[in-house]
Amino acid sequence: MISDKMNAALNSQVTKEIYSAYLYMAMSSYSNSIGLKGFANWFMVQYHEEMFHAMKLYEYIHSQSGAVALKAIDEPPPAFEGPLDMMTKTLAHEQMVTRSINDLMDIAISEKDHATRIFLQWYVTEQVEEEENDNDIIDQLKLIKDNPQGLMMLDRELAQRAATVPLDFSKGVSASEG
Ligand code: FEO
Repeated sequence: MISDKMNAALNSQVTKEIYSAYLYMAMSSYSNSIGLKGFANWFMVQYHEEMFHAMKLYEYIHSQSGAVALKAIDEPPPAFEGPLDMMTKTLAHEQMVTRSINDLMDIAISEKDHATRIFLQWYVTEQVEEEENDNDIIDQLKLIKDNPQGLMMLDRELAQRAATVPLDFSKGVSASEG
């Protein structure tokens, strides 16, 4: 079982994860509009990852006999100022998500809710990976600066990214690896 406070905090995280998906969908769309199809692919894979993160929380709340309460999702920005702007905003967003996961973990620890603490450990590890990936791409974009050839090479590299999370949630995702 989870406390009402933990239940509410986990519900809020579901909203944040779905907003993350929405934000990356907007970035994928913008990338397509400026001809960066590799970036568009990378962000659409990110969209799937975020929906998976949301679904893991959704299933965990159910598994603990909690109540899922879905909230409104904010509108993401319609446009960005190029790839470095998108990746910088992605990193800032992920840092906010990391703080949010840390806050959830603090609640779990203060309530001696060991099941939720163990569940959240997956997200703590995932956030380290997400921030590292974003920082790697930002570093490459800074090296590339205004070099179109370098940007096209990076775009081709990002086109290779494939989703590793389940895309069909109808049978549940809790047994899947993300
Ligand atoms: Fe679900 Fe990108 O954190």
